[in-house]
Amino acid sequence: MARKVRIAPSLLSADFGKLREDLAMLEEGGADWLHVDVMDGVFVPNLSFGAKVIETCKTLTKLPLDCHLMVVEPEKYFDSFVKAGADTITIHVEAAPHLHRQVMRSKELGVKAGATLNPSTSLETVREVAADLDLLLIMSVNPGFGGQRFIPASVQKIARAREILDEARSGALLEVDGGIARETIAACWRAGADTFVAGNAVFSAKDPKAEIRALRACCAEQA
Ligand code: DX5
Ligand code: ZN
Repeated sequence: MARKVRIAPSLLSADFGKLREDLAMLEEGGADWLHVDVMDGVFVPNLSFGAKVIETCKTLTKLPLDCHLMVVEPEKYFDSFVKAGADTITIHVEAAPHLHRQVMRSKELGVKAGATLNPSTSLETVREVAADLDLLLIMSVNPGFGGQRFIPASVQKIARAREILDEARSGALLEVDGGIARETIAACWRAGADTFVAGNAVFSAKDPKAEIRALRACCAEQA
């Protein structure tokens, strides 16, 4: 199976006082994407950042910007985020009653269209659009904060998501977000995920660059 591992460190855990250095370090360390967690304080009980920060990141790194919108009415932000340099826009199905329309709109704007679900949300909410997605993100924590513990049932959910994507002959990437570390990444890879968000694991490591390599190696060992 020719599945490529993608490691997407989360901006949420970066040191904003030295953002330029942190982003350069991620690039040097071989990160594949930068995961950008946008929170509105309504969909999730926390506030983070918006278009201005995306725009700044775009000037500081060549890494694709993987924007995870934990917001209500996500379509309100599509134009400004695309203009700011987003490469992927992933929205929560819980905040997207017209998911098909919103996925199509992202694609029209020329970015990868992603959908994501909270741990308690059924995969049936994405089955009908599976063929249209560029990315399916499985939340392995309840969104809102970095540094939370991985929910073990997520592994089975990833395996079921893999089946849904394969049945639909979807080329979507299968990403997992929350509590990814050396202890949890291999099981997710074996279950069929290919793209891994890592906040705390990378940024709290003594050597973040080595940690990116170590996370990737955990998957390679299992390939
Ligand atoms: C959680 C965010 C995650 C978070 C991951 O609401 O969506 O992307 O930053 O952080 P870790 O890897 O520390 O769980
Ligand atoms: Zn995220």
